[in-house]
Amino acid sequence: GGDGDGGEKPPPQRRVLVFPLPFQGHIDPMMHLAGVLHARGGLAITVLHTRFNALDPALHPEFRFVPVPDGVPADVAAEGKIIDVILAMNAAVHDALASALAEEDGGAACLVIDANLLAVQRVAREIGLPTVVLRTGSAACLRCFLAYPMLHEKGYLPSQESQLYMPVPELPPLRVRDLFQTKISSHEMLCEVIARINETVRNSSGVVINTFEALEPAELEKLRGELDLPFLLAAGPLHKLSSKKTTGSSLLHQDKGCIDWLDTQPVGSVLYVSFGSLAAMDSGEFLEVAWGLVNSGHPFLWVVRPKLVQDCDSVALPEGFEDAIKGRGMVIQWAPQQEVLAHRAVGGFWTHSGWNSTLESVGEGVPMICRPNAVDQMMNARYVENVWGVGFELDGELERGKIQNAVTRLMDEREGAEMRERAEVLRRKVAECLESSGSSQIAVDKFVSYILSL
Ligand code: UDX
Repeated sequence: GGDGDGGEKPPPQRRVLVFPLPFQGHIDPMMHLAGVLHARGGLAITVLHTRFNALDPALHPEFRFVPVPDGVPADVAAEGKIIDVILAMNAAVHDALASALAEEDGGAACLVIDANLLAVQRVAREIGLPTVVLRTGSAACLRCFLAYPMLHEKGYLPSQESQLYMPVPELPPLRVRDLFQTKISSHEMLCEVIARINETVRNSSGVVINTFEALEPAELEKLRGELDLPFLLAAGPLHKLSSKKTTGSSLLHQDKGCIDWLDTQPVGSVLYVSFGSLAAMDSGEFLEVAWGLVNSGHPFLWVVRPKLVQDCDSVALPEGFEDAIKGRGMVIQWAPQQEVLAHRAVGGFWTHSGWNSTLESVGEGVPMICRPNAVDQMMNARYVENVWGVGFELDGELERGKIQNAVTRLMDEREGAEMRERAEVLRRKVAECLESSGSSQIAVDKFVSYILSL
């Protein structure tokens, strides 16, 4: 009806707030989840975002953006260490967020937060806004977090050098070295961060995990028993569920020129090499990787991002390297990774085993060489090798001969071919969970119904 004729107005659109942790591996899954909620449930989305690693609202015209002062001091921002940023944000976000939420007049149904943002959850509770946690790591990783107090009581942590290969029977197939650990922060600080994650999860109205039922069935079942929450949904891989392009939230410029180069390479011949957005190596290791790749004789696409070598803002390639790889290798600063992994020329992925990279590889049936560095990467690599059989770990000192052997093992040998076959089986399981009655679609439906019920 027209104005004043008493006709019924459509019900106001429900609004969901999302607050990602401002790091690449956390922003992407949150923006994909927001995209899925927007497309599926017709939900309006407000993204709360920080100045630190700020997103570009112009790239997401369908969302509303509200800046929240993050309280991250300039020196911490410049260093960009994830734990320091988490601690700074949690210490500072309270008043800033309270006023941002007060300005947000949409009467939001709920707030979806990264599990690292306990302080944000506290503000939401004060104003009666329900929170749902998005876990951007695996279900196994969340189990490890919840087990952290037990792991200390039983003496697995802090880990001793002599016990690194000891199994942790409470969390099969993990060994002590696979537990969530970091070298860049003190153990006490890490324990504090994990305790807060656990509190955030336990205080939430429900948890969404970026995984899928067929990938981690036992871990999800145990988590559901261990956490008494209204819902615990496996709604991944989120980048596959969402129709949004990742470029919208990439913090670095993705060099699309590599796709033209991949087009010229034989099917399954190229090794894609990337160590994610945070991992760093020393200059000696960098040299070994460079010459190991050259000596492997395989075509490769290598992501050398700024700061890949510790304390180097722009990384110089070794002398003679560019001549040695002419036509056979390509080095870029940042890749459109999902497109690369989906390219028919790519036959293997040498990865740092970040959870997003792992899921993206699994989603395209690409087997992996794993070079985990810290946090959840060790356990991701353990599952890749030991549970799914779609890759293996390159362990110990980085040395060009070992690298060459690893590339041969993955790309040329029978063992690598078997990993590729298993990766293809897993890829089909991803496709199944994404079908209209697939487990991840059902999880999204449940999440949307929950939001609409609020
Ligand atoms: C970090 C930790 O490494 C990871 O284990 C944890 O789960 C999340 O935080 P990150 O190092 O960023 O994540 O790795 P990962 O989780 O693999 O995410 C990297 C993302 O950057 C992926 O989505 C990948 O597609 C993207 N990427 C990577 C690019 O777009 N281009 C590149 O060249 C490399």
